[in-house]
Amino acid sequence: MNFKERQEQDIAQIEAALNRFLPEKNGFQKTVLEAMEYSVMAGGKRLRPMLLLESYRMFAGKAAEDAEREKAVEPFLAAMEMLHTYSLVHDDLPAMDDDDTRRGRRTTHVVYGEAMGILAGDALLNFAFETAMKAADFDSDAARVLHACRIFADKAGIYGMIGGQVVDVEAEKKERQLTDEELHFVYECKTSALIEASLMIGAVMAGASQEQVAACEKIGSLIGIAFQIQDDILDLTSTTEVLGKPVGSDEKNHKQTYVSIHGMEQSGQDVRILSEEAISLLRGLDAESEFVEWLIDQLITREK
Ligand code: IPE
Ligand code: IPE
Ligand code: MG
Ligand code: MG
Ligand code: MG
Repeated sequence: MNFKERQEQDIAQIEAALNRFLPEKNGFQKTVLEAMEYSVMAGGKRLRPMLLLESYRMFAGKAAEDAEREKAVEPFLAAMEMLHTYSLVHDDLPAMDDDDTRRGRRTTHVVYGEAMGILAGDALLNFAFETAMKAADFDSDAARVLHACRIFADKAGIYGMIGGQVVDVEAEKKERQLTDEELHFVYECKTSALIEASLMIGAVMAGASQEQVAACEKIGSLIGIAFQIQDDILDLTSTTEVLGKPVGSDEKNHKQTYVSIHGMEQSGQDVRILSEEAISLLRGLDAESEFVEWLIDQLITREK
């Protein structure tokens, strides 16, 4: 199987997990259940759950070939994508980036109204944790599942993704330019945190060592920063058709981005440098990392 086929197979496995774990759409609260499915099943690259699955495989080695064992990470695959999708649904709200297109569709609040957009995001966030904890049904090692859940909670929260979004939003109103330290905080938190969590949870669930989990955190940090810089570049250079979300969103919102501060050329170079550093750390892990290395390399030149 070549890497491209493996990527497609991973996406199919992730989407099957999502379909399995998403709630049934009935009951008086049906509208929010539909809005959850609308936003989650709209496509998207599925990067975070893919890194989670592949990190698990990297460290579980031969055991990963036992499909039964992979069942224990499937709740986390679905949970990670639900949580990421909640962050997008809220990021697009009028009070935040105010964008009307996402994953090639009208955004959730545009279709279901703002109140339901907020609630669908809340629902996905909560359901992500309900789903993650189901991993305990498939793994007899409760301490391991709890460790993975703690990483998930920390990286999603005020010291992770939410913290980054706070400073990102506040920076729109700042008279002065963000310092390098502040800019790094925003990228590390709003984007790297969930990518770090993905690699770390896969590693923890595979029984990796503390050192290996720490290396995953560092690699995730590098991938995430490169990923966000590339996202900022595409916001200026792509089209809505290709990207599936509006271009020019950052300028519209007076965002301070890596590109607005460091310029396009430097930004492009740094995406490459950060990605190459991530690849070189992966090579030092003594694990079968070829596919993840390929994936990181693909992200450097991604067009969406
Ligand atoms: C968008 O994430 C938000 C950022 C952190 C830049 P993705 O680019 O992974 O979005 P999807 O999941 O593919 O839609
Ligand atoms: C948001 O960054 C990252 C999140 C935590 C959602 P952006 O605001 O640049 O993401 P896009 O471009 O809307 O996907
Ligand atoms: Mg934003
Ligand atoms: Mg946005
Ligand atoms: Mg963006």
